[in-house]
Amino acid sequence: MSRFILITTAPDFEQRVRAAVAEGLHGSVQSLPESAINSVPHDIVRQDVAEPPEVIILGPGVSIDEALKLATVVDLQFPEISVILAADTSAELVLTAMRSGIRDIISPSADTASIRILLERACLSSAGRRRGLSVQGNSEQENGRIIAVMSPKGGVGKTTIATNLAVGLGKVAPMSVVIVDLDLQFGDVASGMLLDPEHTLLDAVTGAAAQDTMVLKAFLTVHPGGVYALCAPRNPNEADLITADHVRRLLAQLATEFKYVVVDTAPGLGEHALATLEFATDVVWVVGMDIPSVKGLRTGLGILHELGLIPQGRHVVLNFANRRSGLNVQDIEATIHVPVDVVIPHSPAMPFATNKGVPALQEGVKNSATRSLRKLVERFEPTWGAQVHKKLHRRAVVS
Ligand SMILES: Nc1ncnc2c1ncn2[C@@H]1O[C@H](COP(=O)(O)OP(=O)(O)O)[C@@H](O)[C@H]1O
Ligand SMILES: [Mg+2]
Repeated sequence: MSRFILITTAPDFEQRVRAAVAEGLHGSVQSLPESAINSVPHDIVRQDVAEPPEVIILGPGVSIDEALKLATVVDLQFPEISVILAADTSAELVLTAMRSGIRDIISPSADTASIRILLERACLSSAGRRRGLSVQGNSEQENGRIIAVMSPKGGVGKTTIATNLAVGLGKVAPMSVVIVDLDLQFGDVASGMLLDPEHTLLDAVTGAAAQDTMVLKAFLTVHPGGVYALCAPRNPNEADLITADHVRRLLAQLATEFKYVVVDTAPGLGEHALATLEFATDVVWVVGMDIPSVKGLRTGLGILHELGLIPQGRHVVLNFANRRSGLNVQDIEATIHVPVDVVIPHSPAMPFATNKGVPALQEGVKNSATRSLRKLVERFEPTWGAQVHKKLHRRAVVS
């Protein structure tokens, strides 16, 4: 039995929440008057001592400022409770909400089915936190997807693709995405997303954060696109202090808290990349339109196959596609023995976005490259597998 507390002035929203819970969440909904938004969390949470709430839904109709204040204190005093804001979103609101410890935002006009899915997720993450956020204690259902962006060679667009994937998924699942920069020596997620991190990956894998996911979350940097980031250490020497075990633990921790963990990596198959592959649910393989890049991927995939380190979700992205390269998609597929899933054309808008520190998908730029990046994002949306099951890979390849 879960307990949901709702503070709203909108009877129709309340009705939809009640219907969503009645549809199979095995819980009870308690609606409090609008004035409860000004109470201290203790009074709200302890109304029924026998059954503490798992989810508190604030809005619509209540003061957003008061809702955010309440969420901040609940997050500190009762971190196991998921606070959800029901309000029309703007990028600015998402950012403030994230900082206030709001776990999710839902549109006041959301239908019963969407409310049910959201509440289900909120209950799961609340249950995870209540169990002491233990990494081992979580079932697969509660863990998010870990998407590693990899390539044997550098300069093929891994960081560009990882940052755009994170920002694109941030639109689908605000506040439920974290990007991790595992290019530990020369990572450029921070510059590619115009972030000035107070803490880096080194802080996240050492000390209290490694023991407690709530502390770890405080070490993440918030990006205006509604995603969190864990940036590479500032000094390349610090990379030596980070071990493969650190990486394993970090990814497992993040997967308990986020729906999507996007990992940007250094070129090649170093120890951190291999540790990532042990945990990754998906890999986005990036290949350029040149022989060294294509051959590198073929060799890399062969080695990983032998090691049994090929995660289930495989997504091959051909970047810098260009008709005048002397190669075509079929040549590349025949060499790497797997189909290419997404083709991103060579586009001057990409280095422009990198230099500006604003991923192309963040700005809603429309061109052939962003269209392809959106296709890549769609592959990770929850409904994708069900809808286009048969088109998982564009076509089979005869090797
Ligand atoms: N499709 C593309 N067209 C043109 N330039 C691109 C494209 N994809 C990436 N770039 C540019 O190539 C450079 C290297 O990309 P980056 O993502 O840093 O590669 P990696 O992380 O694999 O080393 C960046 O300046 C980036 O903007
Ligand atoms: Mg890079």
